[in-house]
Amino acid sequence: MSCLEFILFFPPVGFNKQKLKEKLKGKNILITGATFGIGANLTYKLAKTGANLILVARTEQKLMAIKKVVEHYGATAQIFAADLYKLEEVDELITNLKKIDGGIDIFISNAGKSIRRSIFKSLDRFHDFTRTMTINYYTPVKLMLSIIPMLQKNKGHVINISAMNVLLTPAPLWAAYQASKTAFDNWFRSVQAELNACNVETTSIYLPLVKTRMILPTKAYRKIPAMTPNHVANIVCKSIITRRKKYAPWWAIFGQISSVLLRRIFEKFTIKNQRKKLIS
Ligand SMILES: NC(=O)c1ccc[n+]([C@@H]2O[C@H](COP(=O)([O-])OP(=O)(O)OC[C@H]3O[C@@H](n4cnc5c(N)ncnc54)[C@H](OP(=O)(O)O)[C@@H]3O)[C@@H](O)[C@H]2O)c1
Repeated sequence: MSCLEFILFFPPVGFNKQKLKEKLKGKNILITGATFGIGANLTYKLAKTGANLILVARTEQKLMAIKKVVEHYGATAQIFAADLYKLEEVDELITNLKKIDGGIDIFISNAGKSIRRSIFKSLDRFHDFTRTMTINYYTPVKLMLSIIPMLQKNKGHVINISAMNVLLTPAPLWAAYQASKTAFDNWFRSVQAELNACNVETTSIYLPLVKTRMILPTKAYRKIPAMTPNHVANIVCKSIITRRKKYAPWWAIFGQISSVLLRRIFEKFTIKNQRKKLIS
């Protein structure tokens, strides 16, 4: 893909840094999955706003290193190492979140796990489904249930880092990821009106492929153009200012229309493709 084509598919996103700073000074921002990829990029960007960042992930050493960088930029960070596959660790995290002075103002639900695996290779791997469902659905629901009162009090904002796939016809090999991301997307869109009516803003961000370690195991993705995590961080920063309800790349609509109009053709094609793979 040429540079021009890349810009066409992923047009640069800018935001007013001064406005963001004014908006976030002294605010408490909870970011899950802050150690790598999108979460880490976003953390570094928000560190320049003077906000208090509450960072969650498993890798404690990385969290400590990121905290140092955040403080170097003049913001403050509170770090919580937690394995979000384990609901008892989520409970412990919630106990700590409830002690935070002023409560949570913005929650960026970003931690996630993706799995690409054939159903035939999943027959003895029920844990793939419980894990993805826990981190991509139960954990953000559990966190939301406990922080909604704080968000309501602070006229807060929740940003869900979702995937464009949830807007399209489900693709083979992605059952665990697709089902769990769709579950939270649906839950979130369902509670959206209730939250918005109480002055809690909501944003769903539907991302295409993003160049992070998440896509590394999938060889086929190495040559496909992907957004950068820095680009995603800009989208999130802009969404904090504009409080838009939804972001999806401009071309996602063509995928959605095709998902409806060309569904039968897509299904026939995927069956043929899977048969070919079984023979080879
Ligand atoms: N990359 C893509 O192509 C793409 C596309 C669409 C949507 N997304 C979404 O974007 C979000 C961020 O993904 P990414 O691409 O930035 O992936 P990434 O680079 O793998 O980062 C995932 C983050 O989640 C944390 N995490 C993973 N498992 C965890 C667990 N059990 N407990 C606590 N934290 C955990 C990781 O930290 P530790 O390992 O330190 O725990 C890391 O900070 C996900 O929700 C993903 O579904 C990604």
